[in-house]
Amino acid sequence: MAMLLRRVAVGITKPNVSPVNGRFLLRNTASSTGGSTAEEREARATWIKQLNDPMEVVAPEVVDIIELEKARQFKGLEVIASENFCSRAVMEAIGSIMTNSSSDGYPGARYSGGTEYLDIIENWCMERALEVFRLDPAKWGVNVQTLTGSIANFQTYTGLLKPHDRIMSLDLPHGGHLSHGYQTATKKVSAVSLFFETMHYRLDEKTGYIDYDGMERSASLFRPKLIIAGASAYARLFDYARIRKICDEHKAIMMADMAHLAGLVAADVIPSPFEYADIVTTTTNKSLRGPRGAMIFFRKGVKEINKKGEEVLYDYEDKINNAVFPGVQGASHNQKLAGLAISLKQAMTPEYKAYQQQVLRNSSKLAQCLIEKGYELVSGGTDNHLVLIDLKNKGIDGSRVEKVLEWVRIASNKNTVPGDVSAVIPGGIRLGTPALTSRGLLEADFAQVAEFFDEGLKLALKIKAAEPKGAKFKDFEKTMKSNKEFQSEISKLRREVEEFAMQFPTIGCDKETMKY
Ligand SMILES: Cc1ncc(COP(=O)(O)O)c(C=O)c1O
Repeated sequence: MAMLLRRVAVGITKPNVSPVNGRFLLRNTASSTGGSTAEEREARATWIKQLNDPMEVVAPEVVDIIELEKARQFKGLEVIASENFCSRAVMEAIGSIMTNSSSDGYPGARYSGGTEYLDIIENWCMERALEVFRLDPAKWGVNVQTLTGSIANFQTYTGLLKPHDRIMSLDLPHGGHLSHGYQTATKKVSAVSLFFETMHYRLDEKTGYIDYDGMERSASLFRPKLIIAGASAYARLFDYARIRKICDEHKAIMMADMAHLAGLVAADVIPSPFEYADIVTTTTNKSLRGPRGAMIFFRKGVKEINKKGEEVLYDYEDKINNAVFPGVQGASHNQKLAGLAISLKQAMTPEYKAYQQQVLRNSSKLAQCLIEKGYELVSGGTDNHLVLIDLKNKGIDGSRVEKVLEWVRIASNKNTVPGDVSAVIPGGIRLGTPALTSRGLLEADFAQVAEFFDEGLKLALKIKAAEPKGAKFKDFEKTMKSNKEFQSEISKLRREVEEFAMQFPTIGCDKETMKY
């Protein structure tokens, strides 16, 4: 690597600059070049000052919003399973000058000049991504330019399938994700279902586990070209071997979307999909704890030996890379790649492994405490970083509970659970441990989080009981505000949550300089 850096440093000539008032201006070369003088430039190029002014000067109103958000993150409890706090080092990179540079194409094959350092960063990302997931570069490649999880999935389908080819995935109300092609009887909700034919497999509603027999039966009728093993709200591990077998029966591509699980897979604390899948997509900002972004891993090298004894190679690499650029995207986001290179480096440290082990311990503790308090968890527990609570036995929906939790500074999300008819007012709540574990919460702290959750839920039940018959969710806040007792109970619980949350460190900002 040092040699690589030395190589790229060759040819950099020192620019003709001198410091003026702490800033660097080009030396006055007007007479020799026919250009402007420094004085002229200072007088006419008025935008320079604006470009170098700090945020406090240019947009104090944005600074204020950021300060409010900082306070929300510090004083609140973040239990949305897909959220996390990326490190200060990653944030420094994504807020850096790396955002200025364009680089269409791939390292060594760009459509413009000036990309020598961008190539290094992108190569680092690719090398480190394979290393983090313990992959042999002869057998796996990765695209790190893809921008988000949804886009990565769409790029995979467009790269490997023909329009209207068939995709099978976990149904959204049973824990799947929109980008796996969600549609209802009347609406193609995800654009994926406009361009491809989708059919969903589901959970066994009695056990809350994926119904693999049902998946197998449906696959034999639907004959999918691609099956997705991946979820947004499934608290159990996937049986990747079983899905591989079903894929093989239909010569279907097996795609794992490990967006939620990537950090746990990186730290090797849950089984990896790479042993079985052909393609693995992931976001980089959830349990992986990197910058907002995504990656697509694809198999390469020898796929099989055909009947004539010849090697047949995987043909995914060009198809995926072309689907990303120029198929769907233009220039890559190099600030994200700089952040990703750092987060992948962090993902190879002992601290990262310890963190991911704690994510699992905390999740298990949270599940245990909720069960002890009489909550029903879909599948009865958890094997990963999240729990999915079915609120039906409590007589309230997820939307009202989410709202009350938000009022008391607990960020969670309502979620569909099996049997739900509405995704807008669903019957469940999803809680996850990656973000608060990043702030250093341990098992005993998660017992307290469960306690706060329970108090919030009881408050939601009280407010619901005061609603007029047939009240709509949009009037829930009005009911809460119409009653002084509700308001004071919310303020009291909110103060308790804040006092608890403020014991834990901030990530990426300093308590001492916070405005709120
Ligand atoms: C399993 C899964 N795939 C894909 C995505 C989409 O990621 P993004 O929001 O980056 O598009 C999510 C997001 O929650 C997800 O849970």
